[in-house]
Amino acid sequence: MRQDILDYLTAHQGEFVSGQKISELFGISRTAVWKHIRVLKQRGYSIESYTKKGYCLKKAPELIQPEQVSAALHTQILGKKIVYDERVDSTNTVAKKLADQGADDGTVVVAEEQTGGRGRLERSFLSPFAQGLWFSVIIRPNFPPMEVSKMTLVAAVAITKVLRKLGLIHCGIKWPNDILVHGKKIVGILTELNASVEKINYLVMGIGINTGLSKKALPKELKKIVTSFAIEDVPVQRNQLLIELLQQLEQYYIIAQEEGFAPILEEWKVLSCTLGQNVNVIASDKTFSGKAVDLDENGNLLVDTGNGIERVLAGDVHIRSAE
Ligand code: BTN
Repeated sequence: MRQDILDYLTAHQGEFVSGQKISELFGISRTAVWKHIRVLKQRGYSIESYTKKGYCLKKAPELIQPEQVSAALHTQILGKKIVYDERVDSTNTVAKKLADQGADDGTVVVAEEQTGGRGRLERSFLSPFAQGLWFSVIIRPNFPPMEVSKMTLVAAVAITKVLRKLGLIHCGIKWPNDILVHGKKIVGILTELNASVEKINYLVMGIGINTGLSKKALPKELKKIVTSFAIEDVPVQRNQLLIELLQQLEQYYIIAQEEGFAPILEEWKVLSCTLGQNVNVIASDKTFSGKAVDLDENGNLLVDTGNGIERVLAGDVHIRSAE
């Protein structure tokens, strides 16, 4: 029903259509029409409404066009198959199901909205309709399972390069998996693994990038720590962003498989906003502070506490100057 109303408004874009007319056309009450319009507005459709004139669709959000993305890609592996849905619980969950069923290396799952978007450490990840790029990539790499955490760093390098190219020149990587602009998070990466002791069956790399999210749409607790392309006043097309990301990710995926991680970890260091900063580290067994000084060859963060170097394998790292 909502889609029917949207199609009708789209066919009459720029004109006012009365609530009465819509309610008669689709056999629903005017209150029901108003409720559908409210949901469309929440989804980023700009619809003007006046009591006497009705509703007028001014602007629709840019939706993902999977066929156009596929056709524009110059990749060998990533995005050869794109699974698209308007609304899913989590693209990572969908991707894991598909991978269990044998989906190919490079399959991409993308959605306009996630109702149960997930982050690291069991956190939720805000993913409203068309306000960001929420997608997951299934890969079946040939390296051993212990190398997996480095793939998150590889993804962070690829994404940061694309974001800088598109105008977010000040973005940098916060170890291990966030990308920040002026201390606020714009990208999160959640890598999930299915492996036996000696072999990776598949890896799902879930990437969430805030594009259209406005300050107003952010809950109070996120206003100080989250940003988006829109908040940074950098225009972006989500389809183009997805194309550039898949191409860049594939280039680094190939380098990692053919040459190993060392050259990419060097690039990570250059793109990092963590190194050189004073940090608080909350690991599973202890909490400590110090200066982030380097990455080791496994991608672990090295923190100088003043009493020696601590190696951070997992945990939460808070950059003190950014808080
Ligand atoms: C984090 O902030 O800790 C990671 C966030 C990762 C979010 C992305 S959005 C696409 C994919 N699906 C999910 O449920 N999570 C990832």
